[in-house]
Amino acid sequence: MDKKNILTAPFVREMQKTTANMYRLGWDERNGGNISYLLDEGEVAEYLDLACVIRTIPTGFDATALIGKIFIVTGTGKYFKNVEDDPENNLGIIRIAEDGTTAELLWGYSDGGRFTSELPAHLMSHISRLSVDPANRVVMHCHPTNLLAMTYVHTLDTKEFTHTLWQMSTECVVVFPDGVEVLPWMLCGTNEIGEATAACMKEARSVVWALHGLYGAGKSLDEAFGLVETVEKAATIYMLTAHLPRVNTITDEQLKILADFFHVTPKAGILKL
Ligand code: 13P
Ligand code: ZN
Repeated sequence: MDKKNILTAPFVREMQKTTANMYRLGWDERNGGNISYLLDEGEVAEYLDLACVIRTIPTGFDATALIGKIFIVTGTGKYFKNVEDDPENNLGIIRIAEDGTTAELLWGYSDGGRFTSELPAHLMSHISRLSVDPANRVVMHCHPTNLLAMTYVHTLDTKEFTHTLWQMSTECVVVFPDGVEVLPWMLCGTNEIGEATAACMKEARSVVWALHGLYGAGKSLDEAFGLVETVEKAATIYMLTAHLPRVNTITDEQLKILADFFHVTPKAGILKL
């Protein structure tokens, strides 16, 4: 059967739209940010011959839990700004090979490029999220301006950071009742930061990299994007108000009322009731 044109595939179109939106929101300057999206093998097979491997690329870490899984992933050094017009160069579709440590390139990275340098954090986070929520498909990293600014002026304690964000907008505790996990500054692009991020991803879908950016995970690009958007909105309110006298605040009692009404369970140990 003839294959369909991959440039018409919904998952490629979605990646183009999402990266363009993230760029326009100022979350992804230059090559900042990266996305990995777990695809359905049957859907990919409508567009690509899955027996045709363009080249193999070692990953440098063990992803045995993801053997055979196919992801569309942004390229390292590539600009989100450019994905819309040139997806084949800026994106790639990879499959984790039988050895668990090699990526088989099925499409993309057309100038000889490779997947994001943050692949360890992405794939290790996928493994963590899938163990908690088998429907998780997306891991997204970016550099949202106000969240990044907040990590310079707020304590980096996970509980305190989460509590502050929840107070910054009424919908926060509903959108991310699991809170945010905060990692101290670490060297990016390494297996170590990948392991630390993946450990946090067992607890929450949002992980702050202090003085660097944010990771968000979700069932779809929309869901992960909406999560990042909501965290960044809260951080924006914080940065607009932190230097001003606080006259009003959302109390812990009100956060509990919200959680009860919307049937979510706020991360334990944060509300003092
Ligand atoms: P890549 O260009 O390798 O995706 O890296 C961008 C980035 O945000 C590093 O944290
Ligand atoms: Zn980054």
